[in-house]
Parts: sequence; C-alpha cells; structure tokens
Amino acid sequence: MTRILVTGGLGFIGSHTVVELQNRGYEVVIIDNLSNTTLEVLHNIKAITGIQPIFINIDLRNQKEVNTFFNEHAIDGVIHFAAYKAVGESVSKPLAYYQNNLNSLVYLLQELTERGIGNFIFSSSCTVYGQADELPITEKAPIKPAESPYGYSKQAGEIIIKDTCKAVGLNAIALRYFNPIGAHPSIKIGELPLGVPQNLIPYITQTAAGIRKELSVFGNDYPTEDGTAIRDYIHVVDLAKAHTAALRRLIEKKNKENFEVFNIGTGKGSSVLEVIKAFEKVTKKPLNYKIVGKREGDVTAAYADTSMANRELNWKTEISLETALKSAWQWQQAQKKS
Ligand code: WQD
Repeated sequence: MTRILVTGGLGFIGSHTVVELQNRGYEVVIIDNLSNTTLEVLHNIKAITGIQPIFINIDLRNQKEVNTFFNEHAIDGVIHFAAYKAVGESVSKPLAYYQNNLNSLVYLLQELTERGIGNFIFSSSCTVYGQADELPITEKAPIKPAESPYGYSKQAGEIIIKDTCKAVGLNAIALRYFNPIGAHPSIKIGELPLGVPQNLIPYITQTAAGIRKELSVFGNDYPTEDGTAIRDYIHVVDLAKAHTAALRRLIEKKNKENFEVFNIGTGKGSSVLEVIKAFEKVTKKPLNYKIVGKREGDVTAAYADTSMANRELNWKTEISLETALKSAWQWQQAQKKS
C-alpha cells in the first residue's frame, strides 16, 4: 500500500485531501501540530471514510522531530500543507511566517532527499502572481513582488523546491490555489471558524448565522463591472482532487519535468457582490452588508486559466459556486449544533 505523508493534514484543505487519498486506497500518515485545528477533525475523517489515518503531533520547525519521524516511518510521497496562511497576520509577524513556512519546508526536503523519497506536492497560492497583467492567469504569468510575507513565503518555497529538484532529482509539483471555499458534502469537515474570519466566505456565513453583525465589502470602486473585486472560488473537494491527480502523475512518472506548477481554480471569476447574490439565493434571505474602503494588498481580479491542469492532470472542477456556497452554509449551521 502506497503510504503518503500529509503535513497539516488536519487543516481545511489537508483534511479534505486526506479523505480523497483514502478514497483512492492510499495509506495516510498525518503530521500536524494542532496550531490551527483540533483533534476532532481526525475523528471526523474516520467518520467519513471509516479509516483512521495515523496521526503524529510534531512541529515541523523541530528538525530533530522531523528526522525521528522519517527514521520511524517509511513514506512513498508527501503532500505538504503545514504553513501559516493569514496574509494580514504575516505583515505583523514576518519572522514567524518565514521560520514556520520555510524552515519546515527545508527540514522536510532534507529528509526526503537524504532518503531518496521522490514524490512531493507543495501547497502554493495564486498570491504569487500579485495583480496579473493578463486574465485569466496562466502558469507563465510573471511572478510579481509579493504583497506580504505570506505571499513571499510561497514564492520562496517554490524556488527552494525547484532548486532542490534540479540539484538532487526530487520530483515535485506546486499547486497554485485560487480561493478555496465550502465543506465536504458529509458536513463533517470544513473550514474551522477559529477567530474572526479574514476570508470572505466564512465571514458571510457567520453574518448569515448572526455571529457577525454585517459583512464589510472591501471596496466597490474597482475597475470591474459592479465595482467589487473578482476572485476564483473553488470548492475544497475539487481542490483536494487536484492533489490526488498531481500525486498520481508523479507516482506514475508522467511528469514532464522534475518541477512542475499548475494553477488550480475554476477558471471563472466572481465579484464580491455576485458571491453575495448567489449566497442570498442559497439561503433565501438577504445578507447584511455595507460597502467600506479597499483592503490593503487586495488585487482587483484573479482567476485561473486552468487548461494546463485540465490537460496534464486530467482534472477539472465539477462543483458550482452555488453548490459550494450551500455547503459552506450547511457547515456553518452544523457549527451551531456542536
Ligand atoms: C476575497 C475577496 C476581499 C473579506 C486570500 C489569500 C490567498 C488564499 C485565500 C491562502 C477580496 C473580499 C474579504 C471581507 C471582503 N489564502 N472580502 N470582505 O484575499 O482573495 O485570498 O485568501 O492561501 O492566498 O491571499 O481571499 O477571502 O480574504 O477575499 O470584501 O470581510 O473578498 O477584498 O476581494 P483573498 P479573501
């Protein structure tokens, strides 16, 4: 049985990817330091698939712990999610972001290369493009100076991996996510609401649930049709399936270069007001919101050209924005009951 290490496997995207890996017969080992999730997620993964993944609570910033882990576990491939990911927070805590997101990556890669473990999937982000000159955004779009230490840690992460692949023949794929949203159809896993939501969808669902008074729409004077910013919102299960497709490509040695990058989105842009309207259609009730000033660092529009991933990974999104928003709303309602 092929055994895959999923770092950050109890996180939002990590947990959904663990489910898809188990559905495809992989044995999964999770490393997570529980800094942004709870052990409940492990039980909920088992409730969905009937299989409890092996879970090791270690901190990837601890090089000794990482080394001990690899001495004790034979691993065939790694999907690396574990990282801090709050854009705003990274501006006020740059060193915490560089230490966590980059040291962890280096310690992981050192173990993989010393043991000849080849298959490595990296969680990257469309943030690396900044405001792209052309839309939809292809993988050939120039990488712009990062707008935040978070964004820079993803750019630097890709370079570290690329250099390692070149030097020692590691095979790796970086997946540049657009905006992950929604929850598993079982409504047993989703985006954990820890603290005040920074992202649009959890803030919308918490407003609809009466936890937040109203949503602040950050700017309606962008050069877009309705003045609000445009993003590519992809359901987290579609995103998880892109990871199993990328892993299969490496295991089956179908990769054309030893470092590849794919944009993972729906290929469709939606404005903030369009998302609000779609959400109101799902809940059949008006959402309380007000227009405020733009948020520092936000780009006008970002949505993916997904043709490379569609062709090379034989993967495409299957879940609509409305269905994704419905799952996010069901997940929010399930929170109240627990
Ligand atoms: C989406 C849109 C906001 C909140 C970030 C990271 C990206 C990835 C996803 C980690 C924007 C608007 C938001 C609110 C609003 N994270 N908005 N009111 O900024 O596109 O991407 O999260 O990988 O790397 O950069 O996502 O959900 O914060 O914002 O109007 O209360 O919603 O201005 O236009 P973003 P977001």
